[in-house]
Amino acid sequence: MMKSIAGAGKVIKGSLTVPGDKSISHRAVMFSALAKGETKVKGFLPGEDCLSTISVFRKMGVSIEQEQDSVWIQGLGLHGLKAPEEVLYCGNSGTTMRLMAGILAGQSFSSCLTGDESLEKRPMKRVCLPLEKMGAKIKMQGEKGTAPLEISGSLLKGICYESPVASAQVKSSVLLAGLYAKGKTSVIEPSLSRDHTERLLGAMGVECSTKTLEDGRVEISLEGGQELKALSEEYLVPGDISSAAYFMASVFFLPGSTLRLKNIGLNPSRCGILTVLEKMGAKISLENCSTVYGEERGDIYLEYGPLKAVDIGGDLIPRLIDELPLLAILATIAEGETRIYDAAELKVKESNRIKACVENLQCLGISAVETEDGMIIPGKGSVFSLEGKTIPSFLDHRIAMSFSVLGLLCKAENPMQIEDSECIQISYPNFFKDFEKVLDEG
Ligand code: S3P
Repeated sequence: MMKSIAGAGKVIKGSLTVPGDKSISHRAVMFSALAKGETKVKGFLPGEDCLSTISVFRKMGVSIEQEQDSVWIQGLGLHGLKAPEEVLYCGNSGTTMRLMAGILAGQSFSSCLTGDESLEKRPMKRVCLPLEKMGAKIKMQGEKGTAPLEISGSLLKGICYESPVASAQVKSSVLLAGLYAKGKTSVIEPSLSRDHTERLLGAMGVECSTKTLEDGRVEISLEGGQELKALSEEYLVPGDISSAAYFMASVFFLPGSTLRLKNIGLNPSRCGILTVLEKMGAKISLENCSTVYGEERGDIYLEYGPLKAVDIGGDLIPRLIDELPLLAILATIAEGETRIYDAAELKVKESNRIKACVENLQCLGISAVETEDGMIIPGKGSVFSLEGKTIPSFLDHRIAMSFSVLGLLCKAENPMQIEDSECIQISYPNFFKDFEKVLDEG
């Protein structure tokens, strides 16, 4: 489906609630399924990725009722999953496949994880290798260490795994396998990746410790055999800061804009976008902040203002990894040149996001440059009038949404046209409807 976007002369106004956090929605379903008893989840993200997680657990005997953003999960306990009779299809969802690999490695049955064309090209060795060190038996049936993954459940032993990448999916996969392993399992990562797994496991009664080592790396550990307790109160998933980010950025494309984003997750391991926006000169205030089951949340208020370019790299990268395509777009209206580095991980996301951003920006006449581990984007310093073009989404939801934001600069008679925009269903089914809600005639 082709989608046209134009916003020149308009403003962003009002307030918006975005859908629930994708990473937390996955984990809320997974961990509740592994706890004994019922957990109620509200604010669940009913995007395709999280629905894949629900479908995988249903195939292993877990009863899950879902109605829009409400989910009721009847957990079967750590050892209650049943052998699936069919393959477990994970769709486009890397989080489903990688975290499930950890859970399935320690079961008493065999299983097979598959995905769509894009997921079956993404690297799975990064989880299979440490899991095999724990004693897992996994056959990567793809040619290059890729899915389908055939997993024969086995007895696992705890390990200390030094991960070369700061990846929450790798960390979570190993820690979840660690619940089934004998002894202690630790993951050492180069810098802290999103820590929703640690926080939700903690809220469910699992002791999981995090410490920063002398060299700056972070070690996360847990002991095997710990049972998960179903949450006694309904779990309210906060709004996804990665989805809110598209609207935060939009404010800076249209002079005179103001916006309040309500109940957004403010876990520091996800807030790199706020750090960068502030460094770029944005005025942001946080209101109504609270913490529920270990996850901070609050409202974010933003006002239009000019932005200046900054360098983005180092420990910040894992804290804003999914926002980097959007930051490449924001860079085009900042004063000066933006450099994104230490971000080679972008090459193995739903698309090669460095290539996708640079090619699309170049197609629009913006001379972005691809580097080994990031990109360099020239800024304009002031809002300019952009000639809309037909832009491929690379079937990647974050590329489609980022270039939609850039479309705000286009005039109605010459809009930005996003090809295959239905991929947005992965994480934000009502994205364009929400855009219309806050885009005002000015
Ligand atoms: C996620 C972790 C990140 C992120 C992805 C969701 C998660 O991936 O890009 O969208 O829920 O754990 P990596 O862990 O591979 O960096």
